[in-house]
Amino acid sequence: MTKEVAELIERLLAAASEAAQQAYAPFSGIRVGAALNTADGDVVSGCNVENSSLGLTVCAERCALFRAVASKGASVQPNILVVVRADGGPIAPCGACRQVLAEFNPEALVVFRSDHGIEQRRLLELLPDYFRLDGEDT
Ligand code: THU
Repeated sequence: MTKEVAELIERLLAAASEAAQQAYAPFSGIRVGAALNTADGDVVSGCNVENSSLGLTVCAERCALFRAVASKGASVQPNILVVVRADGGPIAPCGACRQVLAEFNPEALVVFRSDHGIEQRRLLELLPDYFRLDGEDT
């Protein structure tokens, strides 16, 4: 990994940790933050936002991605996404967030904590054969 990528991951980790402090998670108690970089060099973060109607909860990763698209358009093309729990525990992006991120960059590097430490995986490895409306091979 280049020094630039390592520094960017550190920046994203800091932004994701800060965002996790804004989480609204009164039901699960699990506060999550995510941060990604955009093609124009910015960092955009998000947190999970739960709801009394539990199925309406939005994960931190989708919050960050939708924020990025809303402010910069569909060309955001994040190439790194970091997700953290406020309590430092393990968390990997859920299947729904993997699918949503794949729409914008299936090659993105996803950084998260597992039981074995910090993992860095390509999205295509986490979600091979993700759904595409045009049915083309990935
Ligand atoms: N959550 C995330 O924010 N990201 C994930 O990838 C998995 C789960 C949130 C949703 C919910 O508020 C809480 O974690 C427990 O599921």
